[in-house]
Amino acid sequence: MPDMADEWGFDTLQLHAGQEESDPASGARAVPIYATSSYVFEGADHAAAVFAGEVEGNQYGRMHNPTVQVFAERLAALEGAKRGLALSSGQAATTTTMLALARPGGHLIVSKELFGGTFSVTRRLLEPWGCRVSAVAADPEAIAAAMTPETVGVWVETIANPSGTVPDLAAIARVTRANNVPFLVDNTWGCAGYLCRPIDHGADIVVHSATKWIGGHGTFVGGAILDAGTFMWPEERFPAFHQRDQKGRTYVSRAGSLAFSVRAFELGLFTMGMTLSPYAAFLGLQGLETLSLRVQRSCDSAAELARWFEQRGEIKTVLYPGLEVHPSHTVASKMLTNGYGAVFCFETHESGAAKAFLDNTRLASHLANIGDAKTVIINPWTTTHASMPESERLAAGVTPNLVRVSVGLERVDDLKRDFAQALETVNISS
Ligand SMILES: Cc1ncc(COP(=O)(O)O)c(C=O)c1O
Repeated sequence: MPDMADEWGFDTLQLHAGQEESDPASGARAVPIYATSSYVFEGADHAAAVFAGEVEGNQYGRMHNPTVQVFAERLAALEGAKRGLALSSGQAATTTTMLALARPGGHLIVSKELFGGTFSVTRRLLEPWGCRVSAVAADPEAIAAAMTPETVGVWVETIANPSGTVPDLAAIARVTRANNVPFLVDNTWGCAGYLCRPIDHGADIVVHSATKWIGGHGTFVGGAILDAGTFMWPEERFPAFHQRDQKGRTYVSRAGSLAFSVRAFELGLFTMGMTLSPYAAFLGLQGLETLSLRVQRSCDSAAELARWFEQRGEIKTVLYPGLEVHPSHTVASKMLTNGYGAVFCFETHESGAAKAFLDNTRLASHLANIGDAKTVIINPWTTTHASMPESERLAAGVTPNLVRVSVGLERVDDLKRDFAQALETVNISS
């Protein structure tokens, strides 16, 4: 896999990485769905050797599946990672990553602009367990100021939801390197590397919800953890990485700079069973085959629609990092390639107008997802971010009249017509 990743470009890797030319067992060109929970061993010695990790082989479906393996390897190749792990959801990837790093007495620094589910892992699991969490602005100064000798990681998102804030990943990586702390990026909005490859900017671990653009058709829930193999896991901060197992081995002695991947595998799959099904992995692979084409079109349409909304009298603000007026525009131009994302938000002048808009679109579906081939809209204040305290919602740029639009693949002129008729209904009802 690393050879292929060095040789071919993104569009080629999204079709081929992780897969032999055809299925070795059947010659099938598509990656087969290996619908099996278990694998027959060649004999007693083979079974023992597979379980001891002395030979490569599939132990059991909770940990191993060939379809899932291709999906994980393809994502690793696209993101420039050394190893990939696929899990049952983006939330499973986040939970596994945070539990693998954190410990009682530890300290995690997170961006104050995070997906609500990620905050929920910090509130419901890390803090009650005794790991302190600081939510700060995703900039190098605020992060440097929050560092302590107990800090076990810095976590940001490539493009924050819904504000569109893009952190300067390279500048943050300089701070994490200087403090010998791993840098973790939720790159869900970076579209598996098509818009951003955080590892190229100094990230050590990348996390994904595959439910969004990777799948791209709103047909399954999945996630992934990708390890750059760039962090060395010092014992003072990460004692669990140096604890000996029954055979006297530690995560670090077993895997060196890939110790995190092994620990995440053992916690997320072996222990917690957050396994991605082979059916979902197959859908993920289908999605990946056309990722760059879909994301490019959605980004181009999002940029055009963001400018179109800016011109409408009903609209107070449009949030899109592709607009020159957006506070992140300059940084986004350095961090992102191929576009500024497929999501923008707008705020209406009239209170109640957001609700009327949501009730009156005909093409855009009102639902809680992003990255679908179909355009989807939602009011984050009352839905995706409703569990956050009001003050935190406002700090994260979530206001009551905000509408989030994740742009799909429809003709952009049809979307404009749909949005215009919904805005005109708003004018009548307000
Ligand atoms: C940025 C981000 N990270 C993680 C997740 C969680 O992913 P999933 O819904 O696949 O569990 C989401 C879901 O909306 C998300 O937007």
